[in-house]
Amino acid sequence: MKGIILAGGSGSRLYPLTMAMSKQLLPVYDKPLIYYPLTTLMLAGIRDILIITTPEDQHAFQRLLQDGSQWGISLSYAVQPVPGGTVQAILIGESFIGRDTVALILGDNIFYGEGMPGILKDSARLEEGSLILASYVQHPERYGVVNFDADERVISLEEKPTHPSSNWAMTGLFFYAGDVVSVAKEVRPSPRGELEITDVNKHYMRLGQLKLRLLGRGNAWFDTGTHESLLEAANYVAAVERRQGLMIACPEEVAYNLGYIDQADLERLAHHYARNDYGTYLQRLRAAKRAW
Ligand code: DAU
Repeated sequence: MKGIILAGGSGSRLYPLTMAMSKQLLPVYDKPLIYYPLTTLMLAGIRDILIITTPEDQHAFQRLLQDGSQWGISLSYAVQPVPGGTVQAILIGESFIGRDTVALILGDNIFYGEGMPGILKDSARLEEGSLILASYVQHPERYGVVNFDADERVISLEEKPTHPSSNWAMTGLFFYAGDVVSVAKEVRPSPRGELEITDVNKHYMRLGQLKLRLLGRGNAWFDTGTHESLLEAANYVAAVERRQGLMIACPEEVAYNLGYIDQADLERLAHHYARNDYGTYLQRLRAAKRAW
């Protein structure tokens, strides 16, 4: 399975923070936001990843993430000239996807929880149709809303409805079979003028090919589209990391635990950070010799 991170958009809800800087490069406590969706795809076992950015921000992402080989993965880059909707990630990624299955993650989504690695690996085994993850939220009207029957079969999907039919929000992580490009090509702009990923998912729903995975309350999901949600996510990461002394979404650690890089690689990577906290953490990982 291949992976796509959609990391463009105007970020206007976060102005002036994002007037001169991409939203997905903003800090979430001690790491840039994009580290979180990136490690989510890595934990799903995905090693071939396309990062879609605005034309003006592409260079900054390349400086930060390079070609991925330092973490044993492959990163390539594409631009979205104008933010015309989340479906464009599939259209821009057409040749990258080829005939493979693909996971699409929105660059502002953060997932965390003990069950997540298992859920991600399992989801990446998808062979046909599509799979979405849903999370219970207090304000479903801000999201795509999923309604389902007693067998957890999806019966409706609505984008930011005024009167939500459930409290289950569609998260920004989607798994698709290789036919998703042809489905994406049929999507027409929504009333807000965007090509909505919800319409791709509705297509699979009508065919009975939309699988749903509910994230239990032991899993945390954040999207960081507002100042409040960005701060909440940062506070959450800080609280967990300070308490445990273990990092959330550290690509070096994930790569090490997955066996993509070894102790010597960790040592080399740690040098980039001299003696700051991040470098010290990588040194500790190396010294521990095995994943915790
Ligand atoms: O986060 C989950 C939600 O994401 C879902 O519940 C919704 O169903 C889905 O439509 C989406 O809603 P948002 O309102 O959060 O989408 P937004 O337009 O903010 O875009 C999400 C991310 O994708 C954001 O970080 C910017 C990026 N993006 C968005 C668009 C429309 C792009 O890179 N290019 C785009 O054209």
